[in-house]
Amino acid sequence: MSLDLKSLVRTIPDYPKKGILFRDITTLIEHPQGFRESVERIAALYAGQGITHVAGIEARGFIFGAGVAIALGAGFVPIRKKGKLPGETIGQNYALEYGVDTIEIHADVVGPAHNVLLVDDLIATGGTALAAVGLLRRTGAAVAHAAFVIDLVELGGAARLAAEDVAVSALMEFE
Ligand code: PRP
Ligand code: HPA
Repeated sequence: MSLDLKSLVRTIPDYPKKGILFRDITTLIEHPQGFRESVERIAALYAGQGITHVAGIEARGFIFGAGVAIALGAGFVPIRKKGKLPGETIGQNYALEYGVDTIEIHADVVGPAHNVLLVDDLIATGGTALAAVGLLRRTGAAVAHAAFVIDLVELGGAARLAAEDVAVSALMEFE
């Protein structure tokens, strides 16, 4: 029988502030089969589709994105918070559920020859993922797909990505 991945995600009330139900993937990734199946199920959706690179968003997107890249035989592109990448970067500001931030990629990492799959642990408002798609597309790279472990559907992020011609998958949904 296949594993119930959703049951491995822990919900923590009032984190990082009162009234937020925080969906915590640390309990999923500490479960060996849960972690493996999460990565394998995402990779299976994109096998054979010519993905050249997986872009993972700091920090939790690195955990799943790296595994998906290995499974697909693709390269891995870290999308990092401002000031963390050593080479020449391009950046994008974005509004977060809990504030404002800037993400960056190396300027020379992907371009028009590349087909990038965006991976993160969770999509909420979609602000982070939209900024990442915009950043990657500024290089000329194709970004037609984004994969998440968790979609917080009521926050509308997946719909916002779809409106930008990004097809979204998620292993599970929470309200
Ligand atoms: C969380 C999550 C996504 C983003 C989703 O990351 O991992 O990247 O927020 O929110 P959004 O859809 O409303 O933009 P966070 O910025 O908390 O960073 P972390 O992974 O470093 O904890
Ligand atoms: N869990 C983890 N990350 C998040 C959440 C959440 O519920 N909301 C926005 N980012």
